[in-house]
Amino acid sequence: MNRFEGKIAIVTGGAQGMGKAIAARLVQEGAEGVVIADIEEDTLKATCEEPGEKVTGIVCDARSKNSVDNMVRQTMQKYGRIDVLFSNAGVCNYNLFLDETEENWDSNFDTNIKGLFFVDQAVAREMVKLGIKGAIVNTASIACDLVSPTTAS
Ligand SMILES: NC(=O)c1ccc[n+]([C@@H]2O[C@H](COP(=O)([O-])OP(=O)(O)OC[C@H]3O[C@@H](n4cnc5c(N)ncnc54)[C@H](O)[C@@H]3O)[C@@H](O)[C@H]2O)c1
Repeated sequence: MNRFEGKIAIVTGGAQGMGKAIAARLVQEGAEGVVIADIEEDTLKATCEEPGEKVTGIVCDARSKNSVDNMVRQTMQKYGRIDVLFSNAGVCNYNLFLDETEENWDSNFDTNIKGLFFVDQAVAREMVKLGIKGAIVNTASIACDLVSPTTAS
């Protein structure tokens, strides 16, 4: 089934794990171009070689709005549109409540909350500008519903 025929997609956090699998599936299902945006340059490079020319890797730190805006700008320059965003860059660095540090808290929230929000916003702006009825899918976590001793933050 070619559910993504002719579509341009961005997958953040796609250098490995679920994002990598989703990027490969988008190509399999007919996407014309898939941008994988990830902070890990070496892993990103290796990952983008596998599915071939339909995939473009862009180094991007989702915690930085400048870096996100730059990634979206590069995507628009290359493809001229964005139809699909899988907003998936995230970290699971959890500590026990009594051991949590300000540095780790900031890193988790800058990536998982702020990062996801501004990636979505930057891509949605381009979709609205072009009148594209696209799809934005955010990866969440069961930790939204369940509290455990190691997911204090
Ligand atoms: N695997 C699980 O059991 C699980 C459970 C709950 C939530 N999640 C969430 O699902 C998403 C993907 O999970 P996964 O298991 O594939 O994770 P993973 O660690 O294998 O992959 C996450 C990817 O995000 C990238 N990344 C991290 N910080 C980034 C940043 N600031 N900017 C850009 N890229 C960044 C990493 O380099 C990596 O390639 C994450 O958001 C994770 O928090 C996963």
